[in-house]
Amino acid sequence: MIEVNLELSIEKGREAVKRNDIAIVIDALRCSSTIITALANDVREIIPVETLDEAFKMRSNDSNIILVGERKGQKIDGFDLDNSPLKFITNEFRGKRIVITTTNGTSAIKQVEKCPMVLIGAFMNSNEVTKKALILAQKYQSGITILLAGRNHNFFLEDFLCAGLLSSKFKYANANLNDHALASMLSWERAECNIREIVKNSQHGRNLIEIGLEKDVDFCLNIDAFSVVPYLERNSIKIFSEGKI
Ligand code: MLT
Repeated sequence: MIEVNLELSIEKGREAVKRNDIAIVIDALRCSSTIITALANDVREIIPVETLDEAFKMRSNDSNIILVGERKGQKIDGFDLDNSPLKFITNEFRGKRIVITTTNGTSAIKQVEKCPMVLIGAFMNSNEVTKKALILAQKYQSGITILLAGRNHNFFLEDFLCAGLLSSKFKYANANLNDHALASMLSWERAECNIREIVKNSQHGRNLIEIGLEKDVDFCLNIDAFSVVPYLERNSIKIFSEGKI
């Protein structure tokens, strides 16, 4: 039976590495959703970095690189784009390489980079990411850790609810859920009918709306809008394909 562990804060990613679990990183608002949308719109690869220095250094080595990211939700000086998934609903970035740094999402990805496989999940790809994680867990005979990016080492409600959506699918597939995963599933079942209103009233939802980003929040809540599953390999995020299994 596959064990599904939900970890509520970035540093708990270490436990996933120790367990050798397949990791799913969730930062529904907005890092995961931006990565999914960019790859679905033919961006070639996305390189996650934690600091602005790293991002600028990468561009000084390759002037074609597009710098994407945020601090306090806003575009960073000298960057090309903020962390809005809506910016990628275009074919303008087809074939491009992107470097991304966000406050929590990219650090969460880094935290589990030594897991046998790291997938990126959000409301936008919940079906596919759970399917791929189950196949991989069977292949590697491992468990699955859902790691929440949250903020400043605390979970964000929208990430917890997204984990609940994934957990409900894992439960349906007969996986064993740890108590955090079970609690997230129960919360999801309570919130599902009203998910937009609940997320818009969450701390992060309210912050984004206050800085004029309500459209981003709405967009990120389009459940299963995409079937792409991003995965991390040697510090590069690309679309996962069956050939990798
Ligand atoms: C983060 O990594 O903290 C988020 O993606 C922030 C955001 O852009 O909403």
